[in-house]
Amino acid sequence: MSTPSPEAHKTWGGRFTGSTDARVEAFTESISFDRRLAPFDIQASQAHARMLAHVGLLTADEAKQITLALEQIGADIAAGRMVYSTALEDIHTHIEKALIDQLGDVGRKLHTARSRNDQVATDVKLWVRSSIDQLDQALVQLQHAFLGLAEREGKVILPGYTHLQRAQPVLAAHYLMAYLEKLERDRGRLADCRRRLNELPLGAAALAGTSLPIDREFTRQQLGFDRVAANSLDVSSDRDFLLEFVFSLSVISLHLAGWAEEWILWSTVEFSVLDLPDAFCTGSSMMPHKKNPDVLELIRGKSAKVLGCLHQLMVLVKGLPLAYNRDLQEDKPAAFAAFDTVLASVEIATGLVAGTKFRREAIAARLDNGFLDATTLMEALVKEGVPLRSAHETVGKLVRLCEERRCRLADLPPEAFEAARIGLSQRVYQVLGVEQALQAFCSDGSTAPEAVERQLASWRSRLGRVDEK
Ligand code: ARG
Repeated sequence: MSTPSPEAHKTWGGRFTGSTDARVEAFTESISFDRRLAPFDIQASQAHARMLAHVGLLTADEAKQITLALEQIGADIAAGRMVYSTALEDIHTHIEKALIDQLGDVGRKLHTARSRNDQVATDVKLWVRSSIDQLDQALVQLQHAFLGLAEREGKVILPGYTHLQRAQPVLAAHYLMAYLEKLERDRGRLADCRRRLNELPLGAAALAGTSLPIDREFTRQQLGFDRVAANSLDVSSDRDFLLEFVFSLSVISLHLAGWAEEWILWSTVEFSVLDLPDAFCTGSSMMPHKKNPDVLELIRGKSAKVLGCLHQLMVLVKGLPLAYNRDLQEDKPAAFAAFDTVLASVEIATGLVAGTKFRREAIAARLDNGFLDATTLMEALVKEGVPLRSAHETVGKLVRLCEERRCRLADLPPEAFEAARIGLSQRVYQVLGVEQALQAFCSDGSTAPEAVERQLASWRSRLGRVDEK
């Protein structure tokens, strides 16, 4: 036997004569963050060992020893018994080293027909898959919270805004279900990402495949991938799936940040639309009266990190030649941080939504401000045959008159409508006032009460809720 090289504990020590500079070890390690992949590394390695036995590169007994030992190593890691060292670089090497410590030469066979390049791609894909499943459940819970609020408070009439100016009336249920739609698209994006990424990388080896007679279809089945990735060079360099995942997370983050901003405003004295649950607000160390929406502010604030992670990943892959480059090791901190931030935000949002109430009296007391019925009046004129542009101008003038007189459109006397050449007499009064304006809506997908009822029924059935009416 030849004398062991100074770097014999490293998986690649053979061709080296001197030891690695400690600063290089510290600079190149990934164990500080990729230890999180341990369960997926164990799972993928077990599948790989079974495949090796299936094709005769391991005996059945060797594969059994390896899978059992890996099981034990996984349990040790979960129980905090693994001793980590930057000299071993990453989680893949730690697990392989532990296996070799236990099994000797049998352990030395596990890495047959495999590289850390296809191994890390496989582990990360398994992590993304399971993270998508976990986040999807959390998004469904948030949808339940919005739907629950829509069931409880849905008949409240709210001012709808564009440009943050009062525009037209909307039912609270209609408003809340807008977020159900956004969250549903978020779920769809995650599902698309999952479908596309669900291809087996293992077997691509370092970059070109292997001259050993492996059976990738066997490994695919073991790990529940839909397809075997077709091109080994692509596998070794591909991080599209992480970009897509973190983009999907970013959209969720943006949805939450916009919603958080809105509810921060709506919980102020100035808006007085919402009463946030005490358990999801914080106080001030100095001002005894304060109840602050810190949770919403942090959901909004943490979205910056998620967007930063997406940016980091996009810049990371920019300009990389094929195939694997060590830059790619830097993908994991960004993906982990983005996922953790979004999952925590979705989970805390769920509790906050579930405990929120609308300030019905304060909302109703100011509903007549801001001419929420003006557009419906204009449409009533259109129904009488007035050209849209003329009707628009006529109602605009009436609004100006109301502003001079400091009254609502419904308070104007019949003469005012006659003078504006609205010969509708009493009929105008049937659409004026916020309540009547709301009842006048009739289009599909609008805030019309029947349309909103249909939306509620559809969400109840899509979320598998028993009818709460
Ligand atoms: N720690 C590495 C990573 O996370 C594993 C792959 C290393 N491959 C290599 N050829 N050095 O990307």
